[in-house]
Amino acid sequence: MIIAIDGPAAAGKGTLAKRLAAALGLPYLDTGILYRATAKRVLEAGSDPADVSAALRAVQGLGEADLRRGDLRDAATSKAASQVASIAEVRQALLHFQRHFGGRNGAVLDGRDIGTIIFPHADVKLFVTASVEARAARRHKEFQDRGESVTLDDVIADVQARDEADRTRAAAPLMMAMDATLIDTTEMDADEAFAQALRLVQAKTR
Ligand code: DC
Repeated sequence: MIIAIDGPAAAGKGTLAKRLAAALGLPYLDTGILYRATAKRVLEAGSDPADVSAALRAVQGLGEADLRRGDLRDAATSKAASQVASIAEVRQALLHFQRHFGGRNGAVLDGRDIGTIIFPHADVKLFVTASVEARAARRHKEFQDRGESVTLDDVIADVQARDEADRTRAAAPLMMAMDATLIDTTEMDADEAFAQALRLVQAKTR
């Protein structure tokens, strides 16, 4: 079984995908990590994340250890991840890994293009979103919990900029698949989102 979970940044996809995977006994892949790890390699090589050949070198050298790093969520890496994610050649290089991951035993994958490009025939497709304000408030709390000081206004601006970049890029832009089910988590906590998603999965796979 393949469960595709797409949506904008900080909508609660990751939390939901992890819980679904655990409940259903499926492997879980956070595909954003692939772009973040590629971006980190570009930055550490001293290259420009918008440079196609530098990004291609980085993605071709990607290994397991790069994906396990604990420092992929800082602001510079997030920005660079969005840049490398807009490069069609980078996306192409990561396509096989994602399909192979899901193809072995099934999986829950979260990202931006799982239900549209990576697994267009996924058994279940969810599009998880929330208002910009709700998503920014959650991200802001994460920063505070990690002891990083940023203003809510800065986080709102960052979330809006990343939404815009993800939605308007030419290569695999963020969009809801025609046959996906929308889950709006603006007024929901993680338990409610999980309960709703699990009901949908059970209804679709009965
Ligand atoms: O979900 P995230 O914030 O970790 O994603 C990091 C960046 O990678 C973000 O700019 C969107 C991009 N991304 C993508 O283009 N396609 C995916 N399947 C996953 C992430």
